[in-house]
Amino acid sequence: MNKGLFITFEGIDGCGKTTQIKLLKDYFESIGRTVILTREPGAKGLGEKLREILLNYDGEVSSNCESFLFLADRAQHIDTIIKPAIERGEIVLCDRHTDSTIAYQGYGRGVNIEQIKMLNNIATNGIKPDLTFVFDIDITTSVKRVGKEKDRMESAGLEFFEKVRKGYIEISKQEPNRIKLIDGSKTIEEISKEVLSIINKVNSES
Ligand code: TYD
Repeated sequence: MNKGLFITFEGIDGCGKTTQIKLLKDYFESIGRTVILTREPGAKGLGEKLREILLNYDGEVSSNCESFLFLADRAQHIDTIIKPAIERGEIVLCDRHTDSTIAYQGYGRGVNIEQIKMLNNIATNGIKPDLTFVFDIDITTSVKRVGKEKDRMESAGLEFFEKVRKGYIEISKQEPNRIKLIDGSKTIEEISKEVLSIINKVNSES
């Protein structure tokens, strides 16, 4: 049986991760692997209900409550989708995961980062991504790509997104083996090549 692999994709809104996830899925399938493409918040079922609240609720949401809702979604996601797929030897490509909560709720909203790390650990049962790609773009590019139709999180303002971006850069320095910071201003093809070369390097070392 193949060994399961868990890869997550991160970055501020509009960073281009969704395109790269699809390209990587095609690559893994072309070499005969089974791939699960999933996302946070809201993969399916209960998660979709939580996603609806997180992205569309228009009343007041405290930062702690927001963190716990993302974490609740994560706990359900890990137990019902991610862990079983890894155990079946599949490749899990996940659009956002634990580092989003550190970057958005921790660096962005100012929730205590050490506490978020601890809660992330509880939500994931200690399961960690084998590899994480952070696609870094500047805020002007993010604003242009997101456009006028903004959800609740995307409406948080420029200052917030500056903090989130800095957070991602910071955490990629703290865990350089797992988290790879990629320049998201390059072309889709250039980024895809870089992603593949990192994956092949990591695979050949393990
Ligand atoms: P989504 O529409 O999936 O955005 P994107 O395509 O950019 O991934 O919305 C997810 C939003 O939720 C996004 O603005 C980031 C935010 N988020 C957090 O703030 N904390 C989290 O833990 C997660 C998983 C997402």
